[in-house]
Amino acid sequence: MRTRPLKVALLGCGVVGSEVARIMTTHADDLAARIGAPVELAGVAVRRPGKVREGIDPALVTTDATALVKRGDIDVVVEVIGGIEPARTLITAAFEHGASVVSANKALLAQDGAALHAAAEENGKDLYYEAAVAGAIPLIRPLRESLAGDKVNRVLGIVNGTTNFILDKMDSTGAGYQEALDEATALGYAEADPTADVEGFDAAAKAAILAGIAFHTRVRLDDVYREGMTEVTAADFASAKEMGCTIKLLAICERAADGASVTARVHPAMIPLSHPLASVRGAYNAVFVESDAAGQLMFYGPGAGGSPTASAVLGDLVAVCRNRLSGATGPGESAYAALPVSPMGDVVTRYHISLDVADKPGVLAQVATVFAEHGVSIDTVRQQGKDGEASLVVVTHRASDAALNGTVEALRSLDTVRGVASIMRVEGE
Ligand SMILES: NC(=O)c1ccc[n+]([C@@H]2O[C@H](COP(=O)([O-])OP(=O)(O)OC[C@H]3O[C@@H](n4cnc5c(N)ncnc54)[C@H](OP(=O)(O)O)[C@@H]3O)[C@@H](O)[C@H]2O)c1
Repeated sequence: MRTRPLKVALLGCGVVGSEVARIMTTHADDLAARIGAPVELAGVAVRRPGKVREGIDPALVTTDATALVKRGDIDVVVEVIGGIEPARTLITAAFEHGASVVSANKALLAQDGAALHAAAEENGKDLYYEAAVAGAIPLIRPLRESLAGDKVNRVLGIVNGTTNFILDKMDSTGAGYQEALDEATALGYAEADPTADVEGFDAAAKAAILAGIAFHTRVRLDDVYREGMTEVTAADFASAKEMGCTIKLLAICERAADGASVTARVHPAMIPLSHPLASVRGAYNAVFVESDAAGQLMFYGPGAGGSPTASAVLGDLVAVCRNRLSGATGPGESAYAALPVSPMGDVVTRYHISLDVADKPGVLAQVATVFAEHGVSIDTVRQQGKDGEASLVVVTHRASDAALNGTVEALRSLDTVRGVASIMRVEGE
C-alpha cells in the first residue's frame, strides 16, 4: 500500500459535509485498505469559521475555498456546499488545478452538468455525483456502469423524501395537504420554505440527471416538465382508493415507443397499489428502472440525511481515489445518442378526471362527445348526483397530454360542466 496520503479538500461542512468528515476519520483504516493509500483531510472550507465543529481540527478550517482548491496538492475536492455559485466556479478551478471532484449538488449538475463534464474531461479528471440523486441509493453508478450494456426505456421514481412523507401522511390518515405539511415541518422532514420540494423543483433536477444518464442524451433542467403537489386533496386520495391506487409525486423519464425521442417530467400521479412504488412509505425514496434485457429493477432506500448521503459521497471518494492511483479516469458524460427531448404534449398516459356537472339528462352524452371529438377514449365513467349537482369521474385509456388538454379546455366551455375538480395522470400500469 502507498504510504503517501491522497489529499482531500472538503468544501462545506454542514449536514452532509460533517458526516463525510466523520466517516473519513472513523473509517480511515478501512478506506486506506480499500483504496490502496491513506486519505487525508487537507482542508475544510465553510462560511462561518467560528462555529464549533466536532471532530474537525480547527487548523484545517478556512473561509477561503478558492485558495484551498487552488493549492495544487489536492487530489480530490468534495463539494457539499450546494447551490450554483460559488460551487460551479470552485469545481471548475479544482479541475484546472489538478483535482478530481465528488459532488452532491443536484441543482448545479442539472443546470450545468455538460459544462462541468467538459471541464473534467479537458483536464483528465473525474466528476462523480452519486449523492446528487436519491441520497444513499446507488443509482447513478448502476445506470452509468452496471446497465451500460443494456437499453433503459423508463425510469420511474420517488426521488424526494419530503413530498413522499406528506403524500403518505395524507394517504394513511386522510389529512389535507396543509396538515400533512405542518407535520412534516414539525418533524424536520420539510424545510421552513418547502417550495423546492413541494413544487417539484428538487425532483425535476434529479429527473434531468437521471434521464441524461439513462438515455445517453443531454437533458437540461428546462427540458423537464414540472408540476408540484400542493393541489393534491384528500378527495383525490379518496378517488385513488376507489381505483385501487395511491398518489405519489413521480419523476418519470421515458423513451418514446418508437425510440426516437425521450421525455422527462415530474408531477403527482395515481399508481396502482400493486406497483412496487406504491409501498414506499414515509421519507424513503425508490426508483424503478425498466430496460430491454434486465427487465424491471427497483432501487430503494433513504434519499436524504447527513449519514446516508455521506455514504454515497464516500463511495465516490473511494472510486475516484482508486482511479487516481491507477492513473485512470472513470466514465465521463455519455451523450452520444443525442435524442430530442419531446414536450409534455407528446407524453402518452392515462388520466383520471373529476368534473362537477349539472345533474340532468344528457350531460353524460355531452361530456362523452367532447372526449371522442379530441380522440381521447374513455375507459370508465362514474356519476354521483345530489340536489341538482353531480360529480362525474372519467378514467381514460392512453392519450397524449395535448389531446387531454384540448378535451379539458372544451369541457370547461360546456354550460353543463360547472368545473374541473381535478386532473390526475395514472401511471405504472
Ligand atoms: N442534506 C441532505 O440530506 C442532502 C441529500 C442529498 C444531497 N444533498 C446535497 O448536498 C449538498 C450540501 O447539503 P447540506 O444539507 O449538507 O447543506 P448545509 O447543511 O446547508 O451545509 C452547507 C455547507 O456549506 C458551507 N458553505 C456555504 N456557503 C459557502 C461558501 N461560500 N464557501 C464555503 N462554504 C460554504 C456552509 O458553511 P457553514 O457551516 O459555515 O454554514 C455549510 O458547512 C447540497 O448540494 C445538497 O443538495 C444534501
